[in-house]
Amino acid sequence: MSTEEQTGHYSITPRRVSFDWDGTPLHWIPDEPVATHVINVLHLLLPAGERWFVKVFKEALPMVSDPVLLKDVKGFMGQEATHSVQHSHVLDHLAAQRLATEDFTRHVDFLFEKLLGETPPFNAPVPPGEWLRFRLSIIAAIEQFTAVLGDWVLRAEGLDRAGADEIMLDLLRWHGAEEVEHRAVAFDMYQHCGGSRLPRYARRIEGMVVTTPVLLWLWAWGTAYLIRHDPELAGRLRYSLGEHNRAVAKGLLPTWRELGAAIPRYFRRSYHPSQEGSLRRAVDYLATSPAARAAAGAVGRAALS
Ligand SMILES: [Fe+2]
Ligand SMILES: [Fe+2]
Repeated sequence: MSTEEQTGHYSITPRRVSFDWDGTPLHWIPDEPVATHVINVLHLLLPAGERWFVKVFKEALPMVSDPVLLKDVKGFMGQEATHSVQHSHVLDHLAAQRLATEDFTRHVDFLFEKLLGETPPFNAPVPPGEWLRFRLSIIAAIEQFTAVLGDWVLRAEGLDRAGADEIMLDLLRWHGAEEVEHRAVAFDMYQHCGGSRLPRYARRIEGMVVTTPVLLWLWAWGTAYLIRHDPELAGRLRYSLGEHNRAVAKGLLPTWRELGAAIPRYFRRSYHPSQEGSLRRAVDYLATSPAARAAAGAVGRAALS
């Protein structure tokens, strides 16, 4: 019986995983540099992005009056902090393979640390409470996509068929499974702190309207950057929609339809993300994930000693 079935509430806890990148090749999906780099954009965005989630949530913690939500939020913060660190190790591995990413990630740092920092950029006259709610709405919108991507990667058999590197697949699926586990937390946090009904709904929509084009642009820019700077490709390949769609057709990337459909779902007034993806699939993966099992073993050994 799961924790959810026993207590009526699913408990979210971080797993202190680690990965050994030494044997992972630059093109970790063999002969598929486009799909490899589209997915690698996660490593460019998430270290700064998920660190920022934790910072914003820390700012908002005093607004949380519900003890159950508070527990979920702390579990969420622990999971996101771990995700951020693990993805940053992949950036070090890319650098060791002569693919330096600082020229890209400094723009991502600027976005999260300066444009979306504790105070509004350019001294914009936005009241502090409103600025915090706006950033919470952005996190809730991003988490809609991470839940969809998390569920996708757990069932992306195309990646197994293509012989993708097992360590990278485990990182992506461990992360994806935890995204499905905590898929409703940022939404619940936003709803709890978001104020009264219509403005709260309007700001939730605004969060998604701002997030979608920025994410799409960052992704296209990030993929083009990685392909351009890939020392093995040496400028022989350019990122294009045609190349992207060829990888989608092989099941190496999610379809535009499944990504796009997440948006109108989110716009529904009665929407709640608890129905996104499959918690069962996520929990089943975490029970077999080499990294998650090793982390659970380490916790068990520490408790015995
Ligand atoms: Fe995450
Ligand atoms: Fe998340």
